[in-house]
Amino acid sequence: MKHTDIKEILYTDSFVGKKATVCGWVRTARDSKNVAFLALNDGTTLNHLQIVIDKENGPEVSPEAMKLGASVKVTGEVVKNDRNNTNEINAEEVILLGSCPQDYPLQKKFQKLETLREMPHIRVRTNTFNAVFRVRSVIAAAIHRFFQEKGFVYINTPLITGSDCEGAGEMFQVTTIGYSDKYDNAEDYYADDFFGKKTGLSVSGQLEGEVAAMGLGKIYTFGPSFRAENSNTQRHVAEFWHVEPEVAFAELPDVIELAEDMIKYIIKDYMEKCPEELKFFEERFEKGLTEKLLSVVNNDFEVVDYTDAIELLKKAPVKFEFPVEWGCDLQSEHERYITEQVYNKPVFLINYPKGIKSFYMKQNADGKTVAATDLLVPGVGEIIGGSEREADLDKLLAAMKEKGMSTEGYDFYLDLRKYGSVPHGGFGLGFERIIMYCTGMANIRDVILYPRTVGNIK
Ligand code: 4AD
Repeated sequence: MKHTDIKEILYTDSFVGKKATVCGWVRTARDSKNVAFLALNDGTTLNHLQIVIDKENGPEVSPEAMKLGASVKVTGEVVKNDRNNTNEINAEEVILLGSCPQDYPLQKKFQKLETLREMPHIRVRTNTFNAVFRVRSVIAAAIHRFFQEKGFVYINTPLITGSDCEGAGEMFQVTTIGYSDKYDNAEDYYADDFFGKKTGLSVSGQLEGEVAAMGLGKIYTFGPSFRAENSNTQRHVAEFWHVEPEVAFAELPDVIELAEDMIKYIIKDYMEKCPEELKFFEERFEKGLTEKLLSVVNNDFEVVDYTDAIELLKKAPVKFEFPVEWGCDLQSEHERYITEQVYNKPVFLINYPKGIKSFYMKQNADGKTVAATDLLVPGVGEIIGGSEREADLDKLLAAMKEKGMSTEGYDFYLDLRKYGSVPHGGFGLGFERIIMYCTGMANIRDVILYPRTVGNIK
């Protein structure tokens, strides 16, 4: 269908005085004695294009085309609107493409995010979700550009896997066998299943990412990860998008530097490319968002040892719900205290106790901690988890044994330590979490098209 994007018509002077055709959905319609106005949006910008219809000398317009949510095609002359310095169209023809009955759910101008969550197929038509999804797209492109410019190779790791990367038992099972009382034990059941063994949806592409890095040097993945976590929080979904670089010949400080550079690159690019959306989020969702992001780009992130963080938390003049002791896994309230109250900027926490981290992390010389890092940011908490990897075969085997893991299914991973092992590391960025941070959206369910959470699949 030949037409021009509303974004172009609104802001391009060279269209003025010329004839143009646009398509869009009616956001508002006003009718008076001599003239009618339609505010049209086609998703290319947050701003609407005003269509002016001269009721005496202008085109015949179906009443259905004047209804909220209807889709129309309009042809007419582009004219300058001096009041707001954008362009509008004096309609010569208005064609109704699709009518929209009274039960259209977006009748009210502002609807609660919770209400909109109940209709993911409709909420994309609101300004909020228009802005969120455009920012998602711009940031995804920035991530690819960042890694491509640095010579990283983009890898697609398998989504169906036999090995649980994080070892947390949070894998969704993949099976083609439905309910059955044919089997006496799990072994027989799995042997009969599609792959002949127990398989699940990958919680992380890291293990296979390491395989690729051991031949290609620097790789990154950008795909979905799945976690059957029973955590009904504002920052967990069962299906999220995961960015995972993996670098050979790298130690923990290199991993940290890469993560900081990436976050700064993404935010700078977003601020340049999405000023309209940023202004919208600042006004509607997070006061001070622009200043916060500018400060992230212009300042160094903090690096804090886990052990020092525990001391800070113990001395905190705050009563935490969960008690703090060396060795404990930090809860969201602890992470937020450190990043929001103590430093008020992004913080890399490093050197966690080995007992609370995954088997693959490099064991530090103290015998108690591992070379891990989480990046915590104000408002969201953890957005990145990463580490240097254990490159020594014997130490890795010992860690697996200590965690009660079987080596079955991990032969390929152990081989990486057997054949020309090198220091290496990487991290995982939760894509939805960086979108939350950049937009000020407080709930992860509002930054992904179809959020999957416990008991909820729309
Ligand atoms: O800290 P995690 O579990 O680390 C890994 O998966 C490593 N294998 C990554 C690596 O080193 N290559 O997860 C990494 C990030 C978290 O910091 C968080 O941002 C995001 O993934 N994440 C989730 N995002 C949304 N919903 C969930 N349920 C998430 N679980 C993790």
